Amino acid sequence: MTGHGKLILVTGGAGYVGSHTIVLLLTENYQVVVVDNLSNSVKGNGNLPESLERVQALTGCNVKYYDCSLEDKEALKRVFSENKIDAVIHFAALKAVGESCLIPLTYYRNNVGGSVNLLEVMKDFGVKKIVFSSSATVYGDPQYLPIKEDHPTGQGCTNPYGKTKFFVEEILKDLWKSDQEWGIILLRYFNPVGAHHSGLIGEDPLGIPNNLMPYIAQVAIGKRECLNVFGSDYETSDGTGVRDYIHIEDLASGHLSALGKLLGVGTTPQCYKGWRAYNLGTGEGHSVLEVISAFEKASQKTIKYKLVERRLGDVPASYADATRAREELEWTAKKNLLDMCSDMWRWQSKNPCGFHQESK
Ligand code: UFG
Repeated sequence: MTGHGKLILVTGGAGYVGSHTIVLLLTENYQVVVVDNLSNSVKGNGNLPESLERVQALTGCNVKYYDCSLEDKEALKRVFSENKIDAVIHFAALKAVGESCLIPLTYYRNNVGGSVNLLEVMKDFGVKKIVFSSSATVYGDPQYLPIKEDHPTGQGCTNPYGKTKFFVEEILKDLWKSDQEWGIILLRYFNPVGAHHSGLIGEDPLGIPNNLMPYIAQVAIGKRECLNVFGSDYETSDGTGVRDYIHIEDLASGHLSALGKLLGVGTTPQCYKGWRAYNLGTGEGHSVLEVISAFEKASQKTIKYKLVERRLGDVPASYADATRAREELEWTAKKNLLDMCSDMWRWQSKNPCGFHQESK
């Protein structure tokens, strides 16, 4: 029980990564306050988002929730004045790559502007510990594989979404340079997939999924006809794109390790002060065809697919060197591709409409 009742503010806590992380936080005896504006989640029957209703059901613990956007600084100040927050895990962001090219200003206002608001309020209230949800997208087209944290960032970010992650990383770096009392950990996610093993919470994309695993799951359940495999002529083992898929529960546990380092709880006795990035990935790459085949095995369904043109902006292969997280956070991913597919399938088959009651 490493949390000792410390109070963690989780921005974007109703979302996919946030909700899974909160389950672990509550299990580890942290208390949680969530701010989320429900821009990408479903309202439940009570006062909470449906994902958080289920988190409470899963853990038997309460979550305090504020329906609040990071763009509303006054509302954020109220959250901080009503709660004695020890640290922040900052997930809240818009995250659709394609959409970000169509409405870049909305992405910059929300992801960058919202983060600056949050940091200003944190500073005003003397809360100087933050775990930031970043992405392997900051590496752009990798110059080498597996990717280490000191790989150049920002250079190959081809879309506004990716740039917002890079910009916020840089803003956090400047903040630390200005005041070394801050403890700032950036977690660069590779490809989070799967769902909680209970099948109660998972990813619930709105509309047509952009990402591979949710799309496959919807083909398996009969909601979509056929998967388009984007590109079959990459220089990879079978010509399809290679990614480092990581089980969402492993990803969530990476946040607990990072938080432990900031708060000096768990295995790390001292509070970390500084700015440090960690890759969260398994270190292993899998091709699209391998993912399809693993999902077929997990679901006992045939996934219909066709090979089509490459998708604009995709890199051939991306996978992590996760040594730094292992050495400094004592964290490693434990679940394999079949676990990811099995848990994804359990969630999808138990909740064919995600968190909605009926078809969207
Ligand atoms: N793919 C398909 N068909 C689909 C969807 C994806 O073949 O319908 C392929 C892609 O071409 C790629 C692989 O499956 O080779 C994975 O694609 P995803 O869209 O699932 O994931 P990406 O690696 O493109 O992007 C993810 C996140 C981004 C994040 C990036 C970081 O979605 O938010 O990883 O590297 F920025």
